[in-house]
Amino acid sequence: MPDDFNRFATPGLGWSDVGDALSRMAATVADHHHGSPLPCGTPGDMLGAVAAELGPQCLPDNGIGEDRALAQVAELVAAYGLDLTHRLTAAHLQPPPLTVSVAADALASATNASLDTYDSGPATLAIEKWTIAALARLAGFGPSAGGVFGPGGSFSNLLAMLIARDHAAAKLRLDTRHHGVAALPRPLVFCSRVAHFSINRACATLGLGEAAVVAVDVDEQHRMIPAALQAALASTDGTPVAIVATAGTTDFGTVDPLPEIADIAARHDVWLHVDGAYGFGSLFSDRLRHLVHGIDRADSVTLDLHKIGWQPAAASLLLLRDEELFSALERNVAYLNPEDDEEAGFGGLLGHTLQTTRRPDVLKVLATFLAYGRTGIGEMLDACHSAARYAQARIVAEPQLELVAPVTLTTVVFRYRCQDLDTVNAELRRRLISSGTALIGRTRVHIAGDEAPSTCLKLTLLNPTSTGLDIDELFDELLRHALEVESENTEYAIAEVQVHE
Ligand SMILES: Cc1ncc(COP(=O)(O)O)c(C=O)c1O
Repeated sequence: MPDDFNRFATPGLGWSDVGDALSRMAATVADHHHGSPLPCGTPGDMLGAVAAELGPQCLPDNGIGEDRALAQVAELVAAYGLDLTHRLTAAHLQPPPLTVSVAADALASATNASLDTYDSGPATLAIEKWTIAALARLAGFGPSAGGVFGPGGSFSNLLAMLIARDHAAAKLRLDTRHHGVAALPRPLVFCSRVAHFSINRACATLGLGEAAVVAVDVDEQHRMIPAALQAALASTDGTPVAIVATAGTTDFGTVDPLPEIADIAARHDVWLHVDGAYGFGSLFSDRLRHLVHGIDRADSVTLDLHKIGWQPAAASLLLLRDEELFSALERNVAYLNPEDDEEAGFGGLLGHTLQTTRRPDVLKVLATFLAYGRTGIGEMLDACHSAARYAQARIVAEPQLELVAPVTLTTVVFRYRCQDLDTVNAELRRRLISSGTALIGRTRVHIAGDEAPSTCLKLTLLNPTSTGLDIDELFDELLRHALEVESENTEYAIAEVQVHE
């Protein structure tokens, strides 16, 4: 029989020669880099330019070879992409990743191991178990804790709500796995008004409906008011499925009062989930760890090391105080983890999540912890916190700027004072982006004394190498562009009035 297995060009596989390919790609990125946080121009320009370089939208019949393909992709990303390492990039909870984690992430891709069964990657399975145990210990959990890595904070929150839902059902002797959620009488999830929207989405996805979310009032620092939570629980005739406390709100970094909320959860016998996607990282810092005091009383915790942790996305983790409670997700599948294989020790973490094939995101996390230790990561957070406090001081010193909330972690929310607040602040951010000057964030806040919420600007400072000079340059540019935008807006408003007269 003819051997026609290898009639095609032999492809490179796995780790072979990847070092050279990576070096060449890094050089290409450096050569073609636009030098700004985002490239200058409009989104339409960029999308058009990339599409034009790729040509007609159909897969090529013939390849151009590995070297040219990698060079082309690297050129596109360098010329039209985002630079998180730029000194004036400060928009989202999206840090510049550490080089050590980028390199270890390449190892994860090269091995292509998975976490579902022992035979899909024994080393990565052992490393994930070790790392989860170490992070659970940092959270203050005991030896019965467990966890699972996943593709983001939204997903970890979804898993937490699923486990809480089935825990609530089990208390009523209902089994959602077979009967769905219809049998659960008016399920409710209590979280603050500024909790992350992934909680609402999780409730929708899990069949509880977004109407299940009870939005509890917050104080002037955007933290859940325990008395309001208590009142909401006391007055409900529904089934409380979970209380979600946020440790590190997306906009303000504030932390709900965890000890008081834990007391209430215990009194009402309700699952307590702490969404620490942003704030869990405080535990790395000797200066900031006090912020999340009480987190060890949660039943489940979400933490995102692709936020505070300087990992490439994703490196999210759901921790459970009692690993047994992953049982809601447990499955035995004939082709993966039949019971006798599991009993013989060949099981993996398939039963801890909704994913089957699962990337070993943990490799970059372990490499980072080994390289820098807890205190090294904590010092990176401290540096970003100091940068945020420096920015806060600059805002307070500028008459044209108004600080919206004091700094807790690494975000600073403020607005440019002017007549047409919403239009000017929103346009200012877009102007900074499209001029290639800076990348900052925006949000909407109801500021005390205002009739309605208004558009505010936000810095999310996650570059641990940022200096005071960088922050000053950012504000100098921002104020310069703000004057331009404001005067154009005023001219436009005058012209509009004249047209209508
Ligand atoms: C508090 C909080 N929870 C959850 C998430 C969702 O995380 P991810 O974007 O990784 O899904 C975010 C994202 O910013 C967040 O700020």
